[in-house]
Amino acid sequence: MDALFGHRGGGLVNAVLRKLAGEGEPDPDSASPAERWSHPEDLVDRWTAAFGPERTEALMRWNNGIPDLGACMGGGGEGLAPGSWLQDYRILPRTGSSPLESLDGPFYLQDEAAALVGRTCAGLAAGLDVLEIGAAPGGKTHHLGETAVSVVSMDSSPGRMERWMGNFRRLGWTGCHPLVGDGTRPPLACSFGMVLVDAPCTNTGVYRRRPDARWKWSADYLEGMTVLQRELLASASALVAPGGYLVYSTCSLEEEENQGQVRVFEECRDDFRRVPLDAPAELVTDGAIGIFPPEHGIDGLFAVAWRRVD
Ligand SMILES: C[S@@+](CC[C@H](N)C(=O)[O-])C[C@H]1O[C@@H](n2cnc3c(N)ncnc32)[C@H](O)[C@@H]1O
Repeated sequence: MDALFGHRGGGLVNAVLRKLAGEGEPDPDSASPAERWSHPEDLVDRWTAAFGPERTEALMRWNNGIPDLGACMGGGGEGLAPGSWLQDYRILPRTGSSPLESLDGPFYLQDEAAALVGRTCAGLAAGLDVLEIGAAPGGKTHHLGETAVSVVSMDSSPGRMERWMGNFRRLGWTGCHPLVGDGTRPPLACSFGMVLVDAPCTNTGVYRRRPDARWKWSADYLEGMTVLQRELLASASALVAPGGYLVYSTCSLEEEENQGQVRVFEECRDDFRRVPLDAPAELVTDGAIGIFPPEHGIDGLFAVAWRRVD
């Protein structure tokens, strides 16, 4: 045991085994849905109130599944399974070894939902100077760099920006510039044709890809995220040039982080008008992209855009 887990790890494993031996496994018939699907009880109560019991159970089943791995492959990827929404998205087979070497071109592996939002943002960014707040490790930069004149990719985490730099070198993004900085106090004195806030969030839309993230959930965590997101939106909006775009996205399913932020922003900002995002109609409500994983078959994301009109 010590060889496998080290001295302290072995002790922990023994303690867990003793507890399991003493209490046995939970009886599936008397277990609550949260126990059955291994999700926090208060989050399941919240989802049940918001989505209803059937959609909540479908969501938890989805979260416990194995995520696909894929990428937008341009003209490449012949013979690979297609995605559900983007014409050039391809899903890699689960063979245990990577077929990437045999494919033609550098790829950014990401869920189709992230690729879809990246593509949609790239459509708005065509011919513009762009600022990305919350940019690392570069999933959206990868798409923005294809159409924007320039992209300043800012993130407050130096470690995550190291990963952005690795992707930058590997994929050869042109016109993209890294910046480590706090988006609530951006160290910039210029304006941009588009500012994207790819906001830090509770991640409730991507639990399938990040199974540990569900155990971070709490009402306080949600509240902290909504405050930070509001600050990021406010500082981002000050950097949008007249006629420019402001885009806000999260990988959360929570109303407070998505439509709630939109409501608060629009109530006090008549200098920004909502612009409908160009995405498949099934994924768009009131111009904003909203993805519910078990129904749309990809990660849960939200995105909305405004144009500065003053
Ligand atoms: C959703 S992730 C970004 C994902 C990235 N856009 C992509 O597509 O690969 C949110 C990012 O926000 C960053 N972040 C958190 N607080 C921030 C702040 N105050 N200013 C700037 N970035 C922040 C996190 O480090 C994290 O990388």
